[in-house]
Amino acid sequence: MRVVNQPPAFARDIATGDYYEQRADEYDEWYLGEGHFAARDRPGWHEEVGHIVRLVDDLPAGRTLDAACGSGFLTRHLHGLVVGIDQSPAMVSLTQSRLANGVAMVGDALSLPFADTAFDRVLTGHFYGHLPDDERAAFLSEASRVASELIVIDSAMRPGVAAEQWQTRVLNDRSEHRIFKRYLTGSQLSEELNGAEILFDGSWFIVARTTWA
Ligand SMILES: C[S@@+](CC[C@H](N)C(=O)[O-])C[C@H]1O[C@@H](n2cnc3c(N)ncnc32)[C@H](O)[C@@H]1O
Repeated sequence: MRVVNQPPAFARDIATGDYYEQRADEYDEWYLGEGHFAARDRPGWHEEVGHIVRLVDDLPAGRTLDAACGSGFLTRHLHGLVVGIDQSPAMVSLTQSRLANGVAMVGDALSLPFADTAFDRVLTGHFYGHLPDDERAAFLSEASRVASELIVIDSAMRPGVAAEQWQTRVLNDRSEHRIFKRYLTGSQLSEELNGAEILFDGSWFIVARTTWA
């Protein structure tokens, strides 16, 4: 039995890892508004999903690492040398099936198995916004070590939503899982990410780009 007021954890939390491994095959239902997401009232959702897909598709070709790539829903729109890394083997398998010219691999985004400056860019979608302080610091240290640019795509803060919370998530088999999540404003993300430029500030998604010397 897990305690209710447990400290925030995500990338190092074993139960969270199990949740994403189990969720892999149904993960895209969230993006596509299918399955139990079909019943959610999300005005403008599909337009904004289209917007972030185009934003990824329009990024200049380069050596890009998608950290915590998930099912590859966004990864597949990157151009150039593309590597996806995720701790879930089921997610990695889905991403690989979508990357004709890229590579997906199992690994830890908080301890990247790549040399310094191996990439031009790290992109990360809906990962950064789950991380508590200590995991965030570890991720930013690794992202800035392997690339000089970081693009963060995440969930935008919405009215009436707590900025950070343990959420109860229900999968299609009705199993329940507790997941830590933050919702971000542009100014907060910019402040956290070295004065990041905000590329998109929508009702559902926020996208920021930062660089390190
Ligand atoms: C909310 S999903 C995001 C997937 C995808 N990037 C997207 O934007 O749709 C979070 C992903 O983080 C992955 N993950 C969690 N902890 C990780 C870690 N330590 N290293 C790599 N991936 C991790 C999970 O397996 C899951 O695929």
